[in-house]
Amino acid sequence: MRPDLPLPAAYTVAELRETVAAWRREGLTVGFVPTMGALHAGHLALVTQALERADRVVVSIFVNPAQFAPGEDFDAYPRTLESDADKLAGAGAHLVYAPSAFEMYPQGFSTTVSLSGPAEGLESAARPHFFAGVATVVSKLFNQVRPDLAVFGEKDYQQLLVIRRMTEDLDLGVEIVPGVTVREADGLALSSRNAYLSDTDRKRAAALNVILADFAQALEGGGDVATAQTAALTAAADAFDAVDYVEARCADTLAQLPEGPLDRPARVLAAVKVGGTRLIDNRPATPR
Ligand code: PAF
Repeated sequence: MRPDLPLPAAYTVAELRETVAAWRREGLTVGFVPTMGALHAGHLALVTQALERADRVVVSIFVNPAQFAPGEDFDAYPRTLESDADKLAGAGAHLVYAPSAFEMYPQGFSTTVSLSGPAEGLESAARPHFFAGVATVVSKLFNQVRPDLAVFGEKDYQQLLVIRRMTEDLDLGVEIVPGVTVREADGLALSSRNAYLSDTDRKRAAALNVILADFAQALEGGGDVATAQTAALTAAADAFDAVDYVEARCADTLAQLPEGPLDRPARVLAAVKVGGTRLIDNRPATPR
């Protein structure tokens, strides 16, 4: 059954295309914010950025099975369409697109986008299936919405670069806009998965931002990349229950950095586990 929502909704590609086509006939530009729902202020900031640059904004809500491996939190992932729609209406979005899994992946679906370059390492080491699932659904969403621009949060920095590379490589004709990371007062980056944290783990999670800020500062102060990285890794291993990675990479490609002091714009990135919750974050590090 379709819930009564406070903004227009499309559930099928045909409904979506009808609305977008009507906007196009009026000469309006279209911005797009893809999400998996469980919306928080970080997502709404992406909507605001899209509204600043486009006449109409579509937000998709689709918990994409293709980017979860067996045993990950696909079933547990919060599904909150009605409260998400209230937030989107408040933020000024024009259309929520909430397709079913069958609409996105009908019987016989057999195509996957294959990636290299910025998709290599980091998240892919722990979640080898992840970016193929993301890239496949995002390329489908781009073809369904056909937006002028799409906003992807810098919080998922590797995802942003993977999508930018894919969009360029496949000539998808969508401008990829980096979205600001919104943080809690203690520096923890907003994420739908923060909802899984117990009160104690929530307090511990704030150390992630501090460790990354110290790592970036060490590099910006002229510190050797390998030494600063080892110090950050040690701090993360002390603070958290597990560490997938704490690394500095080239900011524009995520390639490995040369040894020695930082000589180019970089990004420090980390993925850790606090209790059972996996958190990721990143920060820029720019040589002086
Ligand atoms: O960042 C996310 O929420 C997802 O990876 C995305 C881009 C909506 C694709 O499912």
